[in-house]
Amino acid sequence: MEIEKVGIIGTGTMGLGMAHVIAKAGIPVVAVKATPGSTDRAQQSLAGDLGKLVERGKMPAETRDEILSRITLTTSESDVAGCSLVIESVKEDLEIKSALFKRLEGIVDAECLLTTNTSTLSVTAMMSVCKERGRVAGLHFFNPAPVMSLVEVIHAFETSNHTVRKLINFCTEIGKEPVLVQDTTGFIVNRLLTPYILDAVRMLERGTGTIDAIDRAMMTGAGYPMGPFALADYIGLDVVYAMASNIYDDVRQQYCSPPHTLQRLVQLGYLGRKTSKGFYSYATKPPTPNPQLRHPVA
Ligand SMILES: NC(=O)c1ccc[n+]([C@@H]2O[C@H](COP(=O)([O-])OP(=O)(O)OC[C@H]3O[C@@H](n4cnc5c(N)ncnc54)[C@H](O)[C@@H]3O)[C@@H](O)[C@H]2O)c1
Repeated sequence: MEIEKVGIIGTGTMGLGMAHVIAKAGIPVVAVKATPGSTDRAQQSLAGDLGKLVERGKMPAETRDEILSRITLTTSESDVAGCSLVIESVKEDLEIKSALFKRLEGIVDAECLLTTNTSTLSVTAMMSVCKERGRVAGLHFFNPAPVMSLVEVIHAFETSNHTVRKLINFCTEIGKEPVLVQDTTGFIVNRLLTPYILDAVRMLERGTGTIDAIDRAMMTGAGYPMGPFALADYIGLDVVYAMASNIYDDVRQQYCSPPHTLQRLVQLGYLGRKTSKGFYSYATKPPTPNPQLRHPVA
């Protein structure tokens, strides 16, 4: 394999999901917690997710143990020195990500590829702070990373063909389906999916239907595996909000602006599944629509 060791910065939903996929393919991973504090929660979360797969008979216990043995969790960015690929997956914020790219250039060696898992931000903007720009690209995994096969490989303005080829090979080697995309806000999937989710929220605000009705309609009428509200909660409402804001900043079209209900949920810290509340409340099984949203919020 051309990529022998992978560094991941950020141990949230996507960081840990990607660590799982890459380690399962036999590649050692160094996963760096990007905010202050210990790695205990990330360790528990990783072991918990893999443990559930073992309990449900979807993964042998030996595979779980091998995956865990290949992932080193750390709090020090400098531990990605020696990696042949780094994927950053920190908060969706251009300033934070660009500053990280700048620091990474001082840590890794010249051959290391530097990539971002951003959902909607400009990879070219992150590339602009780097000296060696040919090795910078986007590597956009989907949530949940161990399940979703697509990876959008983002060709930014000065990404070299050598980098693109290596990333496409890497995706194939870890069992993913790479699709090459030019650097545009939202790439392919989120550019199409974000306005759809936002429209569902506006439909709720207009009182066209309840959360449950809209979700069920799209599942049973359009054949989608989950409706737009369940999907938004799954992605994380802060991430949906950031995607909407970034696409809106780019296209300046009203249909891409984040609706009030989404803004309010994010302001209140109701971010979907990861906080147990968003458009649905996850305190119950099965989840129930958030009672505060029973009536349209204008
Ligand atoms: N959730 C999705 O469906 C999805 C899918 C593909 C890509 N992404 C992208 O992946 C990245 C991470 O998203 P996620 O869903 O894992 O989010 P998350 O909330 O689960 O994790 C966010 C990570 O960012 C770190 N972080 C928070 N504040 C920070 C700060 N000020 N400085 C540095 N790091 C900080 C956190 O410690 C955590 O590791 C984002 O760029 C997001 O757009 C998300």
